[in-house]
Amino acid sequence: MESSAYPMLFSPIKVGTTEVKNRVFMPPVSTNLADHGYVTDDLVDHYRARAKGGVGLIITEVVTVEPTYTYLPGDMCCYDDTFIPGWEKLATAVHEYGCKIMPQLFHPAYMAFNIPGTPRLIAPSFVGPSYAREAPRPITVDEIHELTHQFGDAAVRMQKAGVDGVEVHAAHAHGMLGGFLTPLYNKRTDEYGGSLDARMRFLLEVIAEIRERCGKDFIIDVRISGDEYTDGGLTLNDMIYVSRRLEKAGVDMIHVSGGTTIKRGSAIPAAGTQQASHAACSREIKKHVNIPVATVGRINEAWIAEELIEDGAADICMMGRANLCDAEFCNKAAAGNADEIRPCIGCLRCLNGIMFGKRISCTVNPDVERDEAGYEPAAEAKNVLVVGAGPAGMEAAYIAAKRGHNVVLVDRQDEPGGEMRIAAVPPAKQELTRVIKYQYRRLAEAGVTCVFGTELSAEDIQRDYAGYEVVLAYGAEPIAPAFMQGFK
Ligand SMILES: Cc1cc2nc3c(=O)[nH]c(=O)nc-3n(C[C@H](O)[C@H](O)[C@H](O)COP(=O)(O)O)c2cc1C
Ligand code: SF4
Repeated sequence: MESSAYPMLFSPIKVGTTEVKNRVFMPPVSTNLADHGYVTDDLVDHYRARAKGGVGLIITEVVTVEPTYTYLPGDMCCYDDTFIPGWEKLATAVHEYGCKIMPQLFHPAYMAFNIPGTPRLIAPSFVGPSYAREAPRPITVDEIHELTHQFGDAAVRMQKAGVDGVEVHAAHAHGMLGGFLTPLYNKRTDEYGGSLDARMRFLLEVIAEIRERCGKDFIIDVRISGDEYTDGGLTLNDMIYVSRRLEKAGVDMIHVSGGTTIKRGSAIPAAGTQQASHAACSREIKKHVNIPVATVGRINEAWIAEELIEDGAADICMMGRANLCDAEFCNKAAAGNADEIRPCIGCLRCLNGIMFGKRISCTVNPDVERDEAGYEPAAEAKNVLVVGAGPAGMEAAYIAAKRGHNVVLVDRQDEPGGEMRIAAVPPAKQELTRVIKYQYRRLAEAGVTCVFGTELSAEDIQRDYAGYEVVLAYGAEPIAPAFMQGFK
């Protein structure tokens, strides 16, 4: 995939012995679309849409390697061979578009979901984040060996299913391996605790197990926090050392995230936080290893990603929510049509939903589970009046027009956007203006007639738009946060 607009971003890269067509990778983003751990058609559609949209390599959401502990109820699993056929389907669908795919192997430890019947949680030590549902018990050394083997079994199954490699999740002080690495939660006094070398032992044993059983051509990538930015947590210095040890252990790529689940907003930055939030870490780590280094964190525009690579901050840009919000992100960027990309506003609705077990959703992209190509033509083309050019009205008008209706959109204000224009006013909310521009631009492309500065009464509609189907999309009430109530 070549692009004169972003030549570095869309140049190929070798990860291990595998060539990937470009440097936009999708990091793990949980969707809750699996069914009792099994790959569903919805999951295949979801990832296929991103592969079709031009992503070079997809790292799937967490995939649990043993049956006892579940992270989120709709997560994928691979703890026995019955999971292989679903993964074959998924890998085949993604490969069809020249995109690579790797599951993120995981054990949730103290973060396991509160499913009735789940035994007492296990973790490196008897501690975990304050919001863990109970104090865990320390995993025994025999259980560590068993779990190491289960990581290996899972990787072998995935390899049989045809994936290109695996990502081992050891970032964010999250899950079992992230927990062992961090001094925040590893308080052990045996050979798996104490020094950084000892805290790394479990991770290195997992890597050795996978490498031995899956061979040299199977990509092993490890996700780390380049800095936990948390008092008492891992520092960049620690992580340079860890990265060098990982390289020596035969890891093919290091995925440098950052933060912890307790330092809010550090791992999944919200709107208004620094773009490319962990690039300072990836840049430094890249100086100390010779394998590809990926960066991640609120990289949601192609020009930033291009600059990061050109500037030596990383070899690969992981773009999660950008690809969630617009499955065609890469194709549009590569073609030089960045203006046509549906902008992610960093609102984190996607995250809030899945943490409570809901299916993935997106504030800006109603088609988040699939691609947009599938709007069915209407059986009968009608005249449609949409009243209100806020986000809902603009989306309704666009989809109606795409389905073949003749659409008129009317708003009493002189410009589109509705309440979103007010919502864009506070600091960190400017990105909403990009949504207004994006939606308005599409209306012209879809042939919607827009009429501004016109207030319609019920009588006006009956008189001037007799025979029209009418969509009322006005009347959104701004919500005043509790602390502001009473202010005038
Ligand atoms: C809805 C959602 C689900 C996520 N699920 C995972 C996950 O399963 N595993 C993981 O390591 N990170 C997960 N993340 C973190 C992302 O991989 C990524 O680090 C983060 O979203 C920042 O990148 P972005 O700004 O490009 O989205 C998730 C993030 C979001 C928003
Ligand atoms: S717009 Fe909001 S919900 Fe959609 S991907 Fe971005 S952060 Fe998630």
